[in-house]
Amino acid sequence: MCGIIGYAGTKPVAPILLEGLERLEYRGYDSAGIALAAENTVVRTRAAGRLANLRAALEKSVAGPGANHSESLRQQTRGSSGGLAAPQAAGVGHTRWATHGAPTEQNAHPHQSNGGKYTLVHNGIIENYQALRTFLAKNGTECRTETDTEVIAQLLEFYDTGNPLETLRRVLPQLEGSYALAVLYYAQPGIIYAAKRKSPLLAAQSHHGTLLASDAAALLPLSRAHYRLEDGDLAVLTRHSIRFFDGEGQEQIKTPQVMSRHISAAEKKGYEHFMRKEMAEQPEAVRLTLEPLLRQGGPHLGSAEEALRGADRIDRVLFLGCGSAWHAGMCGCVVIEELAGVPAAAALASEFRSQVVTINQNTLVIVVSQSGETADTLMALRQAKAAGARTLGIINVEGSSIAEESGSVIFTRAGLEVAVATTKAYSAQLAAVYALAARLGQLRGTLGGGKMRAFLHALAALPGLLEETLAASEEEMLRWAEEIAPKEHAYFLGRNLDWAAALEGSLKLKEISYIHAEAYAAGELKHGTISLIEQGTPVVSVCMRPGVVAKTMSNNEEVRARGAAVYCLTNDPSVTARRRFLLPACHPLLGVSFAAVPLQLLAYHCARLRGCDIDKPRSLAKSVTVE
Ligand code: G6P
Repeated sequence: MCGIIGYAGTKPVAPILLEGLERLEYRGYDSAGIALAAENTVVRTRAAGRLANLRAALEKSVAGPGANHSESLRQQTRGSSGGLAAPQAAGVGHTRWATHGAPTEQNAHPHQSNGGKYTLVHNGIIENYQALRTFLAKNGTECRTETDTEVIAQLLEFYDTGNPLETLRRVLPQLEGSYALAVLYYAQPGIIYAAKRKSPLLAAQSHHGTLLASDAAALLPLSRAHYRLEDGDLAVLTRHSIRFFDGEGQEQIKTPQVMSRHISAAEKKGYEHFMRKEMAEQPEAVRLTLEPLLRQGGPHLGSAEEALRGADRIDRVLFLGCGSAWHAGMCGCVVIEELAGVPAAAALASEFRSQVVTINQNTLVIVVSQSGETADTLMALRQAKAAGARTLGIINVEGSSIAEESGSVIFTRAGLEVAVATTKAYSAQLAAVYALAARLGQLRGTLGGGKMRAFLHALAALPGLLEETLAASEEEMLRWAEEIAPKEHAYFLGRNLDWAAALEGSLKLKEISYIHAEAYAAGELKHGTISLIEQGTPVVSVCMRPGVVAKTMSNNEEVRARGAAVYCLTNDPSVTARRRFLLPACHPLLGVSFAAVPLQLLAYHCARLRGCDIDKPRSLAKSVTVE
């Protein structure tokens, strides 16, 4: 979703902002813009669509006829041929994922107050923007866009005291909702003002200036250490310094956090798409995730052990997450119930928030998130903590909001995931869940001896077998995709863990290929949905979980009798189907990890054959920071 970058320093500003925006692209966006401060004015350039459009618009504004750029702005935009850097340069940039108003140039950030005094970019949602618009209109200020954000710029100008920090402290309490803000003031060209509530915001110092970003990925490679703004914090960035203030205006001292591992640059490394590359990285992601958790000869969660203290008293486990993270939680339930004997459930974070909360200090709440920034998951975590639950995060991004607030964290080691559709992070989540379940079982005395040894042995073999599965799936999934890609509907079936695998497979297919896909618990299909099965309807059936395969096979027959083209993923050689792909024999709890690989490839090839934008599917965002 929306991304923020800001820079105050001596280098040409626009190239730094554009590079930062490129690093934020993976979050998903539909328009972009930057604003550059100059003498007593702030110049905006915005464009609907991809960053290439913004680059073209910038070029045009600098070079085109009637270009109104001063020399300092020209330097900020293109860099100085003579090595002269603008001494007082600052700018902010934004990628917007539309919420209020269409993704047009007019609605793109940065937004500016009518008199041009305040220019800003915003992540989050201002929930009372209608009331604030009405207030502004009554007082003679008409908003020019459909966005919620514009009211902030207009209010700042309305209440302007000539001191932006003071003005911000006056306006911010009037805003309901969430915000990460980067603000330029027309009379102070080298300064960025920042504020944060509920949406993440980081500041960093490099050797030639200071930076602001909504996401650590945008700060690299310029700085690996960053300061994290807390809710209510304000910050003032100049070329030389970053100063922090609380809501009362008291200056605060913050300690920078150093990223303990390098987030590599987003590079395709010869692959056609990031998704393809990230699929190939799954064995490594799983290996790196498991390694610290199994290092001591048995499962051990390191600092996250805290969440399992007094494991005997844990009487319920609740997974919370969204999208694929929820699917990983569904798998976690099955594995934990089986290995640790604790009742477990997985709830969608967005739904959990409106439920009557019946959790307490004996409930282990596990929040699962790749980005660590998903707003619904973060809010659900806060709700669980407030109810007294012990909380544990399974998170891929260090320093993210959910990682910071989870209490205990198991980090998945998938590295930067760029494609919107998750692959390696999901596989790493499953790996973390397996290790967690094993440790919980060990602590509760439900998993030991041969059973433990067999499980650990299977986990050790997982990365290698995933590697083989990747290579072996390619050809067959391309064949399946050639048949499925022309269709408009597809169904996925499975029971127990296979149902979770089916849900993940159908999500992958619909998000990147735009084929309507639904996953059903195989036994449930006949209670309504089977009426949609027609001659040639593709039905992908996951038959990996021993004990339920025979029943799913009966369900396969039911749809086949109604004309469905059945595609079956299984590691049981006795399963027959029109198209069958045989996966490696594995531990009964790990089949879901293997099924994920061909299902990803199936979605990938369908999307490719349909000419879809695989890494950046329409309307989707990688980091969903609105509720
Ligand atoms: C978005 C992504 C999904 C992801 C979900 C949860 O919808 O497109 O792939 O599963 O968010 O994201 P998280 O970062 O919390 O794992």
